[in-house]
Amino acid sequence: MTDGRQKSVYAIAGAAAAAGLLALGLQTWYGSRKRGLFRQLRKQMLLDDAGLVLVRDDFCKQMVDGLAKDRPSSLLMIPSMVDIIPTGNERGEYLALDLGGTNFRCVYIKLGEGKGQIDDVKIEQCEIPEHHFTSPAQDLFAFMADRMVTFAKKLGFSRARDGERPVVGFCFSFPCEHISLNSGKLIRWTKKFANPGAVGNDPVQMLEEAFDKIDFPVDVDCMVNDTVGVLAAARYVDSSVMIGMILGTGTNACYVEKIDNVQKLQQTPRKRRRTMIINIEWGAFTSKTLPKLDFDRDLDASSTNPGAMQLEKLTSGMYLGEVTRRILLKFAEETGLFGGPVPTLQEEDALTTPDTSKIDHDSTFFGGPTADILRSELGLGHWQTFWDRQLVRDIVRLVAQRSSQLIAAGIAALLRQMERDGTFGPMERTVVAVDGGMFQHYRAFREELLSALERIMGVEAAHQIVLKHQQDGSSMGAVTMAGAAAPSQVGPD
Ligand code: BGC
Repeated sequence: MTDGRQKSVYAIAGAAAAAGLLALGLQTWYGSRKRGLFRQLRKQMLLDDAGLVLVRDDFCKQMVDGLAKDRPSSLLMIPSMVDIIPTGNERGEYLALDLGGTNFRCVYIKLGEGKGQIDDVKIEQCEIPEHHFTSPAQDLFAFMADRMVTFAKKLGFSRARDGERPVVGFCFSFPCEHISLNSGKLIRWTKKFANPGAVGNDPVQMLEEAFDKIDFPVDVDCMVNDTVGVLAAARYVDSSVMIGMILGTGTNACYVEKIDNVQKLQQTPRKRRRTMIINIEWGAFTSKTLPKLDFDRDLDASSTNPGAMQLEKLTSGMYLGEVTRRILLKFAEETGLFGGPVPTLQEEDALTTPDTSKIDHDSTFFGGPTADILRSELGLGHWQTFWDRQLVRDIVRLVAQRSSQLIAAGIAALLRQMERDGTFGPMERTVVAVDGGMFQHYRAFREELLSALERIMGVEAAHQIVLKHQQDGSSMGAVTMAGAAAPSQVGPD
């Protein structure tokens, strides 16, 4: 090799080495910025022991205020007017309609002779067409009544004769002020619903009118929140269950409260009892103690109900995927993750909670399932590295951890209110009936919830809490409640 050629080979090799070093340097620099931002977020989003106690204590205070007559509280603490609970001795055939998340359900049940015996159950899940989330409320109710009549006719129910109408239970999973078990007023829509013409009106009346219009009159004899449905369904077979909880598209809990503590209760319940189920509407919890960041405020501002449902927006299935997307976008903008803020990452709801739970459950070393989701949902085929995928997995877990910590603080507060958290005597075993996709399908979330409960209540006390999945709890509860409330029943011909 001539001197000249040798020199140029050295020059090329030198340049390549320098470029390699520069790339490595940049990668390390970007990597450390990413890790730095992650550490910062982790600190802001997760609560230490003292922070958890602050949330629990504010929750406790607002529960007491919410039960009082005129004290402001973000917790609605709605008396459900449920003073009858299925005992397992109900008989007959009932229908129920269950509206709450992304679908609605038509339910039929035949209660048998033995205590708690269910002879037949039929559930039909109907997808709600996208336009019905915002259509006039009358149209949404007409759509549901129509589907329900088709369902009922298939089962042999027919139009009422001699004034005897089919009895329908209504599981309506939105905040409603109750006047009685089967009348009330919608306080606000939540989750994806924003149908004009319903807030301030009685959902039971709207539903009965919708059935009347298609000439199939029914008696809606009870309207229950899904949490109350879950509790009722669980108590149908186990009278020791004291709490009903939903961890799904939305989140909420109800519990059995001493009537003497419910100072705001104006009406005396039908049968004078010592207890009443209170629908906490904990998704509406607002507090300075909540770890809310900029991206949470942005999400709130672009939601259908800005300013409302603060806890729900930090914890429930409708929002966790979107919170994650917003965090990923922040990383893309500030640290160059995925090569920058690609357009798909800027689309609202591009990631759902079922997507992020799949990422969270990805236990492979190279993160193949995570890569698949980033590719299919965000179109990130080229830009993701091994380290990016690890980071995405950590972010997903962080979002789930924050959610589980806040739910655990709510459970701890609720148990304190019920004097069952161990501070008023030995900790009693407490069964919480739970339904909802987040609880049912998101294993890592469930595990985080249990460990957060251990942190806030202590290991021994936390082990006295049994979180029991109540399959189809809201639907089953509404239909058994219809049975408990019915003075008489009408079955198919
Ligand atoms: C509603 C509650 C409901 C919860 C779970 C919330 O958005 O306000 O009434 O129980 O979702 O479905």
